[in-house]
Amino acid sequence: MVLSSPTLTGELRGPRIVTELPGPQAQRLLALSEEYEPQAMSDQVPMVWARGERVWLEDVDGNVFLDFTSGVLVVNAGHSHPRLVAAMREQADRVVNTYDFVNEWRPRLAQRLVEITPPNLSKAVILTTGAETTEAAIKLARKYTGRYEIIAFHGAFHGRTYGAMSLGGKRSSAGTKGFGPFLPGIVFAPFPYCYRCPFGQTPDNCRLHGTDYLDWLVETETEDNVAAVIVETYQGGSGSIMAPEGWFPKLEAWCRRRDILLIIDEVQASFGRTGKLFGFQHYGITPNILCLGKGISSSVPLAAIVGESRIMDSLTPGSLGSTHGGNALCSRVALENVNVIIEEGLSENAARVGGQMMARLQELQARHECIGDVRGLGLVFGIEIVTAKATRQPDAAMTHRIVEAAYRRGLLLIAPIGFYGNVLRLAPPLVITEAEAITGVDLLGEAISEATLA
Ligand SMILES: Cc1ncc(COP(=O)(O)O)c(C=O)c1O
Repeated sequence: MVLSSPTLTGELRGPRIVTELPGPQAQRLLALSEEYEPQAMSDQVPMVWARGERVWLEDVDGNVFLDFTSGVLVVNAGHSHPRLVAAMREQADRVVNTYDFVNEWRPRLAQRLVEITPPNLSKAVILTTGAETTEAAIKLARKYTGRYEIIAFHGAFHGRTYGAMSLGGKRSSAGTKGFGPFLPGIVFAPFPYCYRCPFGQTPDNCRLHGTDYLDWLVETETEDNVAAVIVETYQGGSGSIMAPEGWFPKLEAWCRRRDILLIIDEVQASFGRTGKLFGFQHYGITPNILCLGKGISSSVPLAAIVGESRIMDSLTPGSLGSTHGGNALCSRVALENVNVIIEEGLSENAARVGGQMMARLQELQARHECIGDVRGLGLVFGIEIVTAKATRQPDAAMTHRIVEAAYRRGLLLIAPIGFYGNVLRLAPPLVITEAEAITGVDLLGEAISEATLA
């Protein structure tokens, strides 16, 4: 396994905080942002990014942070991976946008995606964003089946455009509230959020793991005209929620029995993030249509759907595509990135270092009353912050304080996520070493201690 790279400068090492936070340059840029940009984006700590190398990030004032965000689970191969930088440079010199014309790299990327996914998936469409892939998947499911209803899950997140947003299972969230009405024909089923089961069940006695509820849903809320089920491999935005053992195989069997397509949205869970190349490989299931994004390029905007030929071939000329989709630069970089992830064993590293991180995080949980739940797979974790372990009452204010205290120590975390805004999301680049991971967890421990005392 090759985890270090000869062409990285190695200059960036940290954490190293050398100014007040935010520093003077950052303050200027934050003021500019406030003046000229609506405050529409998620509420991140005021870190203004200037440079990244592997797992380290430098802000515009020279402060160095350990990155536990990977952007937003994008930079799986680490920041500025030299092979990706070289691919970008070389292609920028040749040609970038080629619209729908075939270029040297788009079909090669499609071929590679087909090679590395299950044998039933045999064609790929290269797009630009994750939301585009979930939109495309439901278009495809409707076109192929001639049916229109889609089953999605409570708490789901599939993107911010109208179709994708309509598949979102938390209508009260800032991303959807006030933007309705949404796409008709979508019905929602409960996702197994076992730490906060709305039915008061435990994984052992829960009948909703089975398909009883889905049958009931189809009977009561649909015209029995369901084209597809769309599901995340783990629910990202709702707080890194992992389904219990056995749930996914039952879901897959139910879809097969009913002749309903299974769309797996792996925009977040793929390319090594969970310790396997694809997250669904943990569950022994196979999608009919697979949505990919984020870590597919570790950098430039690119996303893709991979599907069965019988489904993909229902597309006719002009029915799917976009201005930037499959452009030569992004396709080349994504192809290089896929090869980097496989050749450098990054899924395996995520499984190994992720296991060590999990053990450390569980130690933290034992020490801190505010850590209600720690869940994770590979190198993605959700930590639920609560007022007390016994009550499990979400503590969003404390979660914010922890993110801020971590930032002041040089550990960068994404703003709190989760159904109740009380989940810390840890997702470092997959090139992280064990020592770096431990540094991060130690800093997190200090941040929790500080926030608890505040
Ligand atoms: C599971 C999932 N699907 C879709 C999306 C949307 O991707 P994008 O922001 O690239 O449109 C995301 C983004 O967070 C995601 O996590």
